[in-house]
Amino acid sequence: MADDATAKNVIPTGSAGAGGKSPEAVKAAAPAATRRSFLASMSWLGLGWVAFTAGTGAALTALGRFMFPNVLFEPPQSFKAGLPNEYSLGVDERWKEKYRVWIIRTEEGFFALSGECTHLGCTPNYFTSEAKFKCPCHGSGFYAAGGKEKIGINFEGPAPRPLERFRIALTDDGQIVVDKSQKFQQEKGEWIDPESFLKI
Ligand code: FES
Repeated sequence: MADDATAKNVIPTGSAGAGGKSPEAVKAAAPAATRRSFLASMSWLGLGWVAFTAGTGAALTALGRFMFPNVLFEPPQSFKAGLPNEYSLGVDERWKEKYRVWIIRTEEGFFALSGECTHLGCTPNYFTSEAKFKCPCHGSGFYAAGGKEKIGINFEGPAPRPLERFRIALTDDGQIVVDKSQKFQQEKGEWIDPESFLKI
């Protein structure tokens, strides 16, 4: 019993405080704890700032989409191509860049040939000396001479079928008009359609 009482009343010797740390150690630990809590609050502030920035960016993007919706501006499907007497015999490339169309004049008249390769859609180049259209992507070749039955037919490379033709006509003021919304495919026998050729 006496030993128990003695044990309960024992005050630790020395100057150690709670947890066995001396006051000096406690004093030294205090700034470190303050520093840690400061750093912790700074990192929360940083996270908050990142979240705020991301949220603002998303809101501005949504506003931008609302103000300027995604609209695809494409050249019109139908265009006037000038007067017939402005064309010489052969392949005319003046509309290739804007409309991807060649206008071909033969002895019998005109037709409008598509500049879209029937393999995977690249735009072939016209080689006058070789009298052919040659696709730069995978090497398909199409005749560029030989009359209205032959021009546009595929003869080399992976293209599975001839180039397409578009509707061609004359307007009231005597100009050639090309309508790309109406296509004619040789393999379907559509090149004999009167709208695929302009007799002059
Ligand atoms: S896209 Fe023309 S050959 Fe492949």
